[in-house]
Order: sequence, then C-alpha cells, then structure tokens
Amino acid sequence: MKRVYEPVQEGSYIKMIDMVKGEGGQLQVNNISGYLPGRIVFFLVNSHLAPRPILLTRHGESLHNVRGRVGGDTVLSEDGELYSKKLANFIEKRLKNEKTATIWTSTLQRTILTATPIVGFPKIQWRALDEINSGVCDGMTYEEIKKIMPEEYESRKKDKLRYRYPRGESYLDVIQRLEPVIIELERQRAPVVVISHQAVLRALYSYFADRPLREVPDMEMPLHTIIEIQMGVTGVEEKRYKLMD
Ligand code: G3H
Repeated sequence: MKRVYEPVQEGSYIKMIDMVKGEGGQLQVNNISGYLPGRIVFFLVNSHLAPRPILLTRHGESLHNVRGRVGGDTVLSEDGELYSKKLANFIEKRLKNEKTATIWTSTLQRTILTATPIVGFPKIQWRALDEINSGVCDGMTYEEIKKIMPEEYESRKKDKLRYRYPRGESYLDVIQRLEPVIIELERQRAPVVVISHQAVLRALYSYFADRPLREVPDMEMPLHTIIEIQMGVTGVEEKRYKLMD
C-alpha cells in the first residue's frame, strides 16, 4: 500500500509527522502565508496527541447560586465548601501517579475557594476563565431581569448565543476570549484541572466534545460534577463523576 503514496514536496503544505511523541514529532511548514493559514500553523504547532486528562468542573455552590442570582463574586455555601473538600480528595486519588499537574481557576473567589483544599499542585488564575459578564444585570435574579428589563430578557431568550448583556458579554464573546485557554490546554502534556463557571465550561466542553455552536448556551453543566476528558490519539473520550447528591 505504501507504494501508492507520493511525498508532498511542492506548493503550500503543513506536514505533521508523529505528533504523539514529545521529541520525535515534527511539523514541516512550506510556503504558508496569510492570517488564517498562519493561525492554523500556530494552532498545530501548539497541539499534540499525547494522552493526558483534562478535568473540568464548576466551582462549588456559591451564595448567589443559592439565591438564584447571576454573576457576582460571592463565597461558597455550606454545600459548596463540602464539594471543595470532596473535589480535593478526588483529585488527590485521581492524580496520585502523575508527576505534574496544574489547577486552573478564574479570578473570582468562588473558584479560588473551591481550589483551596487541593494541595501539592501549582494553581494558576486566568481572567479568561471568569464567568460571562452579565453587565447591568449582574447580581439580579432572572425574575428581576424579566420584570425590570423585559426587552433584554426577551432578546436573550430569542438568541442566547449572540445576545450581549448591556455593558457585558455574549456567549460569542466568551468563546472568543477562551482561545488562548484552548491553545494552552492543547499544548499541555500534563493533566490540568479547570475550575471555572457554567457559561465558560459550556464553551470549553463544547470545543473538546465537538458540539455545535448553537448548543453551547443551553448545554447541561451541573454543579458538583467533574467531567474528565481524555485527550489522545483515539480522539476525545469522556467520563463524569458526580461527587454529591
Ligand atoms: O450566572 C450566570 C450563569 O452561570 C450563566 O448561565 O447563561 O444560562 O444564564 P445562563
């Protein structure tokens, strides 16, 4: 069968040779120019197929979650604190055979507090992992938004993906700001635990699970659940662990 192959030698091409191994892999780029091809090369240079897990979880339940309020920067509820301890236990067991791993959080205290009981791994705070910015609606309940700003409520209901909160963000904005996070996750060779927020994790998960854009804003992303994504040559496999009832 090998006899019918012909090596690509001319024109514009990107050759990827054995991208699984750390040092053995090679990327050959020939005659590539322009913004989009350049971005593709940048992405490919940073990605590889070495097997490693990515663990995604929302922060433990926050006081705003209990009150049904969006956004804000509140601390954890009692259940949220319990989850942070269970999560630390889970991570300790799950990653005990790994040489290195990192814990990524947003800059909001509910994710930082969720990561607090985890010891022995470096922690990195990413602004890009902060929850969708709900602008003028920050701190309100959905009922309050419906009553005080009915047009905003209706517009969001009609097109949740594109709707941008006044002085805030849309799901499309969130997806765009996640690009450096995704490149960095593709680049990592060691396990990463991402502790973030509902809207952000909907977008990140959809990328790895190859889900269509239109599904992102309504995807189920329950609290107190870990989604483990196994990256590697066989594609992406996932497991879910529900740590609390
Ligand atoms: O607090 C904000 C929520 O996590 C985002 O949820 O986009 O379904 O309103 P939503």
